[in-house]
Amino acid sequence: MNYARITGTGSYLPGAPVSNDALIAAYGLDSSDTWIVERTGIKARHLAAAGTTSSGLALPACQRALAAAGRRPDEVDLLIVATTTPDYIFPSTAALLQAKLGIKNGCPAFDVQAVCSGFMYALSIAEKFIRSGTHKCALVVGAEVFSRILDWRDRSTCVLFGDGAGAVVLEASAEPGILATALHADGSYSNILSAPGQMSGGQPIGDPFVRMDGQAVFKMAVKVLAEVAAEAIAAAGLSNENIDWLVPHQANIRIIQSTAKKLGLPMSRCILTVADHGNTSAASIPLAFDEGVRSGRIQAGQTVLFEGVGGGFTCGAALLKF
Ligand code: UT7
Repeated sequence: MNYARITGTGSYLPGAPVSNDALIAAYGLDSSDTWIVERTGIKARHLAAAGTTSSGLALPACQRALAAAGRRPDEVDLLIVATTTPDYIFPSTAALLQAKLGIKNGCPAFDVQAVCSGFMYALSIAEKFIRSGTHKCALVVGAEVFSRILDWRDRSTCVLFGDGAGAVVLEASAEPGILATALHADGSYSNILSAPGQMSGGQPIGDPFVRMDGQAVFKMAVKVLAEVAAEAIAAAGLSNENIDWLVPHQANIRIIQSTAKKLGLPMSRCILTVADHGNTSAASIPLAFDEGVRSGRIQAGQTVLFEGVGGGFTCGAALLKF
């Protein structure tokens, strides 16, 4: 059996952490550290400097993942970037990243857009390429400069997000790696979380910023995360007791607590970065996974559940042996 197994992880966060109080002061927000921490669990986030791009954040994350896997850039034969904040309309961020990494072997490189579920989609696509036998070494990346699409006058969204990148190397292996994935989308809920602007003649047309019905997204997230996690666990022929670690999308500590409770997992079995990173959209799961691995908590041979949810409305989960 040709499995796809994660052999290396890496991540990168720009600059120093920006505390809730510093953000509130910088943008004159009618908010408080107490409100943000109580409602979301977020204490700080990293914000990219002007001119920094998603591919610029992805580069060091990928270099670290490749070093951890013991692979050279030219051994990568598939490059997928999940991002909501691409460098350009085109070429893709993945194509730009391929050049930055110095990969000259002509491997396919493309972006995936499923907002905060983007890494789940990218990982699942890469897994299928590898299991089909056509590709052997994929670099799967989540990278965002989400701060670029925030309305800094809208306290209900701008305090929630941050910038960063995470990457994994996914390789063909005789040993089990990814055991099952599940992906879903329901476009009829596109209105509860969107950035509905367009570009025309070099100018944004309509509203280019993130707009969210927070309560609707919260309810939807809690519901679909439980469903998609259960689907992936069942598809792998396992049960909740087999999960060693939950690496969830880091949007809100209350959503993570609810998901962990439904899975019967104590919070001590969840990798949490939401306090320090905020919601980094497609980057949040690989960033948290890298932190779990590098801190020594996630060990080789353990069973890990990834799960993500985001605009679309999209969701995805993956169950894997690390
Ligand atoms: O990646 C997926 C994307 N997003 C998510 O997963 C987010 C899901 N939703 C959430 O996390 C929560 O709904 C929020 C954190 C966004 C909001 O928390 P909430 O407990 O649902 O608050 P709410 O929207 O019901 O707002 C309660 C109050 C409102 O004031 P009134 O109408 O009660 O006077 C808001 O205007 O809190 C107010 N509020 C704030 N107050 C201080 C909203 N944002 C802020 C703020 N600081 N930053």
